[in-house]
Amino acid sequence: MPPDLAPADRFSSGPARSFPGAPRSYIGYMDGNFVEIRNGRTADVFDIGRILVETWQFAFRGLLADDFLDAMSPADQAVRHLGRRRTPDVRHCVAVDRLTGEIVGFVNFGPARGGSGAKAAEIYALYVRPPYQGIGIGSRLVKAAACRVMASGQASLFAWVLSTNPNRGFYERLGARPVEIGPIRLGGVTYEQIAYAWHDVEMLLTDDAGAR
Ligand SMILES: CC(C)(COP(=O)(O)OP(=O)(O)OC[C@H]1O[C@@H](n2cnc3c(N)ncnc32)[C@H](O)[C@@H]1OP(=O)(O)O)[C@@H](O)C(=O)NCCC(=O)NCCS
Repeated sequence: MPPDLAPADRFSSGPARSFPGAPRSYIGYMDGNFVEIRNGRTADVFDIGRILVETWQFAFRGLLADDFLDAMSPADQAVRHLGRRRTPDVRHCVAVDRLTGEIVGFVNFGPARGGSGAKAAEIYALYVRPPYQGIGIGSRLVKAAACRVMASGQASLFAWVLSTNPNRGFYERLGARPVEIGPIRLGGVTYEQIAYAWHDVEMLLTDDAGAR
């Protein structure tokens, strides 16, 4: 298939496939090309900033104020994530389209904010570019975070999600359960958010936890 097709076209003829012998960090898709999950690097923050703004404006239009969404800037988000990378124990993993070399999703995680306990880790951000959603990248990113969280001795993992986010079902599919409700202020407006938790992060590493 010609390499200049849009990602959505390359995915259009069927679900993601896995390829015998491919490392577990690879996700197979059409024509034998792969999406690879790897540890984030400092230079990735520019792509991360761009993906974050693109996915927020796509997913949260109608849920958050237009003014707030329209004012979001990839450069501001890149600076924010650069700051996060400099925070001890905060990490990123990225999903890379091996055909184009493009970063198409990322997860950012580290110690729980707000004193939720030394044994808890938090996913601060999880975003997959719209054309790449629905082929298993998000679940692989969560699993990549879970592996690293376990390796650092933390037993549980959670993520805050807007109450109105239609993607809450993604966390439920991966076995997370709602544990807390709290406020979040964005652009001067207060919204409700829900914390979804995996009390035993090891459960994410079994094959039926949103596996493909
Ligand atoms: C939410 C998001 C990270 C999921 O990533 P993804 O790559 O599209 O999800 P996957 O393909 O890995 O899906 C894994 C499983 O969850 C299910 N799932 C995904 N989105 C879902 C949804 N909105 N509702 C219910 N189930 C969902 C999939 O069907 C799949 O189940 P299956 O294995 O039985 O087929 C991605 O869609 C995204 O970035 N969305 C916009 C921003 C967002 O909401 N981010 C997260 C909260 S801040």
